[in-house]
Amino acid sequence: MASKKPIFVLNGPNLNLLGTREPEQYGHQTLSDIEQDCRARAEAHGYGLEFRQSNHEGELVDWLHDANETASAVVLNAGALTHTSLALGDAVRAIEVPVVEVHISNVHARETVRHHSHISAPAAGIIVGFGTMGYGLAIDAIARWTET
Ligand code: DQA
Repeated sequence: MASKKPIFVLNGPNLNLLGTREPEQYGHQTLSDIEQDCRARAEAHGYGLEFRQSNHEGELVDWLHDANETASAVVLNAGALTHTSLALGDAVRAIEVPVVEVHISNVHARETVRHHSHISAPAAGIIVGFGTMGYGLAIDAIARWTET
């Protein structure tokens, strides 16, 4: 039986600081806690996990291109680049592998500048405002899609 390609979880700028960064917005879990949770969920569904974070837009674009070749699906929290990066939106549009956009906070309840996302239109789905639990929900959704 061919083994499934891993799920990629890609994180953008400042998410390396989770745990200490604005805990009233993002809670107390660190990125490493989130990675452990994602790995357990992915493995429970029979997937491997590739979990990455970058503060650099171009690196995230490169990883989305890689994902098109080597991933089953992508969970993407692009941080503030969500609201500014046409290049990331174009990268999501350019690849065939499904991308689930995740935000820890409810961006629609925050400043107006956070209401627009370059990623939402080309994304396969969006999970917003469920705290760090959103990453696991995205992995469960990907597993459900690919089972059916
Ligand atoms: C975020 C929301 C963005 O507006 C913000 O810039 C982030 C985190 C979230 O997960 O809630 O860095 O993507």
